[in-house]
Amino acid sequence: MKNDYSHYLNTQENFRQKWHEYFECPANFSSDHYVEQLAPLFGTDDFFKLTEAQRNQLNLEYIKLVAEALIFFEQLLVLGAWKIINKRTYLEAHTKRALQHFAYEELYHSHGFRHFLFIHENMHWNKNKIYADSKILRFIISKIVILAPGCVFLPGAKLEAFTLSYHKMIKKYYLNQRSNSWIHLNHIHQLDEAHHVPLEFELHNEIVKNEGVLKTFFGCIFFVLTMQLALGIGAFKVVKYALPEKNLFTRIRLMMKMARWAVRLTPAYNEAREMTRKQFIAKKPIYGNLFKFVYW
Ligand SMILES: [Fe+2]
Ligand SMILES: [Fe+2]
Repeated sequence: MKNDYSHYLNTQENFRQKWHEYFECPANFSSDHYVEQLAPLFGTDDFFKLTEAQRNQLNLEYIKLVAEALIFFEQLLVLGAWKIINKRTYLEAHTKRALQHFAYEELYHSHGFRHFLFIHENMHWNKNKIYADSKILRFIISKIVILAPGCVFLPGAKLEAFTLSYHKMIKKYYLNQRSNSWIHLNHIHQLDEAHHVPLEFELHNEIVKNEGVLKTFFGCIFFVLTMQLALGIGAFKVVKYALPEKNLFTRIRLMMKMARWAVRLTPAYNEAREMTRKQFIAKKPIYGNLFKFVYW
């Protein structure tokens, strides 16, 4: 049966209210909310060599990395969606409406994460940014998305799965979903993303046929490779901002450990890969075998 996306659109019509409530709340995330188990490098030898203050700073910078990575990625999803909505004539009305709604929600999300970074002075976002000032990286990846906009959907599903598993990981320690502004933000974000993960597979199926599989495949490869570069840049900046007293050699060593911790050791990322793998099995995306590298 043809997909009309009504399952998604009908349940998401009222998403604005929870975001407006969030924008009204005061800044409420400080070192009081530090949780050792959630801090970068936890469980490694390097973590135990750091002072409490250094761990706390590293944690704040990692939260900034997560927030900025989500903003960066959501902007790319919006770019890909708008490119398809405005430049392609093959879209059916219901697909166009689902894409517009999806892009609109992502705009709210990135606004929400920007709001978090902006109102918390302890984030020092006015002077220390992770991706917001990386012009070359933004240029490279936006060119890829403009040339092959269909490439955003499957990597998008994995990043969105990450938002679900990241929320699951932090809510173990922040039992009250409104106890601080970080858990509040992640809670309302994942409510939308739970709908987006399956939606991305449906959009992929509908769009890849028209965009061309090879273009989408190569776009996806370059997209994922650029994301690895972004991970390295992000990990380096986290270490540089949190531990300015360390020399370059130590920063590079910690950057590699930090990047490995973020994508191989945290339960959130491992679960996101597993969730994406299961969605591949359940949703059977078109040319799915070609795109499996997305969840490696
Ligand atoms: Fe989002
Ligand atoms: Fe999303």
